[in-house]
Amino acid sequence: MLSGAVAVTGVAVAARVKKLPQAMRPSGRTGRIFGWLMERLNAKAYRWVIAQLRPIKPKTYAEIGFGTGRQMKLAIRKLKLQRAAGVDPSELMFETAQKKLRRYREKIHLDLKKGDDTMLPWEGPFDAIAAVHSFQFWTHPATSLAQIRGLLAPNGRFILVLRHHGKRPPKWIPNPLSRSGDEISETVKAAQAAGFSVLAMKPISKSSYGLVLGCG
Ligand SMILES: C[S@@+](CC[C@H](N)C(=O)[O-])C[C@H]1O[C@@H](n2cnc3c(N)ncnc32)[C@H](O)[C@@H]1O
Repeated sequence: MLSGAVAVTGVAVAARVKKLPQAMRPSGRTGRIFGWLMERLNAKAYRWVIAQLRPIKPKTYAEIGFGTGRQMKLAIRKLKLQRAAGVDPSELMFETAQKKLRRYREKIHLDLKKGDDTMLPWEGPFDAIAAVHSFQFWTHPATSLAQIRGLLAPNGRFILVLRHHGKRPPKWIPNPLSRSGDEISETVKAAQAAGFSVLAMKPISKSSYGLVLGCG
């Protein structure tokens, strides 16, 4: 199995050799436009994530693939977090989120890192972990799910929002479960194998499907 650092290096090399699609690695001017659009298109999913977390009153939160940081900003404000952490491999998204969230640095413990799902560099436990539309890019979902399970507090929630692809997912997406043509069932099976229980699952919009996972 690849270590996180080696895997990140591998992805970085791959990105240099072949330019990755904007959704997977937003960059440059197009990436900025993509980020702006993404915030608007995913607004309903962001609100849904917050609604799932409100009942457990989380104080600590981590996000995998935070993009522009919009979801994390909402979580900090609406849930009154004390600690927020996140990874995203895109330099542009890392800088964008740092800027968006800098005003909270003095108020809460904020820890954003450039990295991906294979490198979750924190000490748990977290009351809440979220990933919105980044799962499709995870190369070894079973390994990452097990790691997330290990970081979650006993009554914590992992909120996973899938980018719904239907029966014909694009061939280039790296996650074998997302490519399978039956992403939802395959993801549920993998989450259960990693020790999660499914507390809720439902379509959020045409392009988003939400799963609320607890510690099995
Ligand atoms: C479609 S965007 C969604 C961003 C954000 N979650 C949102 O909904 O606004 C996908 C994000 O996942 C990030 N990403 C790509 N591969 C990833 C990986 N292996 N682990 C974590 N994040 C990844 C990208 O850099 C990008 O910011």
